Amino acid sequence: MFLKRNVECTMNKILEIELNKNHIIEKEKLFNLFTSFFDEEFGFDFNDNSVEIQLGTIDYNSFKLHVNKTLANEILNDETKDVLKKIFDSISAVKSYGLKGNKRVYVDYNKEIKVKNRKEKQNNRGQFFYTNGNNFSTINNELPDEFNNKIICGDSLEMLKKLPDNCIDAILTSPPYNFGLDYAATDDDANWEKYFEKLFAIFTQCIRVLKYGGRAIINVQPLFSDYIPTHHIMSDFFIRQKMIWKGEILWEKNNYNCKYTAWGSWKSPSNPYLKYTWEFLEIFCKGDLKKQGIADNIDISADEFKKWVVGKWSIAPEKNMKDLNHPAMFPEELAMRALKLFSFKNDIILDPFNGAGTTTTVAKKLNRRYIGIDISEEYCTTAEKRLVSYLF
Ligand SMILES: C[S@@+](CC[C@H](N)C(=O)[O-])C[C@H]1O[C@@H](n2cnc3c(N)ncnc32)[C@H](O)[C@@H]1O
Repeated sequence: MFLKRNVECTMNKILEIELNKNHIIEKEKLFNLFTSFFDEEFGFDFNDNSVEIQLGTIDYNSFKLHVNKTLANEILNDETKDVLKKIFDSISAVKSYGLKGNKRVYVDYNKEIKVKNRKEKQNNRGQFFYTNGNNFSTINNELPDEFNNKIICGDSLEMLKKLPDNCIDAILTSPPYNFGLDYAATDDDANWEKYFEKLFAIFTQCIRVLKYGGRAIINVQPLFSDYIPTHHIMSDFFIRQKMIWKGEILWEKNNYNCKYTAWGSWKSPSNPYLKYTWEFLEIFCKGDLKKQGIADNIDISADEFKKWVVGKWSIAPEKNMKDLNHPAMFPEELAMRALKLFSFKNDIILDPFNGAGTTTTVAKKLNRRYIGIDISEEYCTTAEKRLVSYLF
């Protein structure tokens, strides 16, 4: 009998497990066990002295249950059980896999790398060359107590000037969109040049107060109807300030009922209007891609890490905007992922456009310290209430 089933994918991770020639191994029983459990995305090839496992996609938790059940009953002899255990342990030891629903997707990442001497070539090209000559100080400072875990009402441009240099671990924020929204204390329809002038003055302060190695995570939605690529203009600003562009996360909101039903010139190439269901998170680092922090203060799980380093996050828009009376909040899930992925417990998190306090609430929930600034007294009161109310 042919104890072999191959997977048609060159990217699969292959495990080779040796079999002891002197043992009586019931290969046929093992083969049947595997074929009954695994779908086509899993292959195996039993030879005289070894078995080759071609890892594709498996529901690892069901697999574990299945193996434990088999080991607990008398279907297999002891020597075959040893082999099954060896196979299970080898699969469990593979830590590089992706996630698809409940399933683990295994790929041999070594085969994915097609560029030879990648690191050397990267160095020759000059990674983030645009930060050359930055004069960021590497000396970080303590945040004075009076600002620690505080919601501050005021104009960020003025308030941030009160903070020392290099005292904030991470900034998570969503600046006013300039869409014409009804914020409580500001108009949201400034002339674009004035808008960027003010925003960049605030961002300059943000960069100053960030620690060396600190991160700025900016949630931004371009105003497509004005043909203003806000995310590019802001990124260009940070890059010119010699911040490292770490990357971009696409926040897919799946809000397909978005407006502008006229779609520009209807059914004509003359001027079709593009529709978007997503926003961006632009991420920048000050001076260093690596952030200092102790291992005990990491709170992201392995599965969360694997899912969230894929730069497209599908998260529904915030549902409580009406109740909290704020027109442009981001959801807690978004803040939670950003903070767990880019900061450590006990880090100091700043939001200079804190609104109804999503960043500060999530920072508190995740045992980070926080400082939230907003120009509206009403929003600051809401942010304060949220800090208390989530506890009950
Ligand atoms: C897009 S909202 C942020 C919402 C927030 N992410 C949340 O989830 O609640 C932008 C906020 O910036 C505030 N704002 C506008 N100009 C400001 C300024 N100069 N200083 C501080 N806050 C300002 C507005 O009041 C508004 O709440």
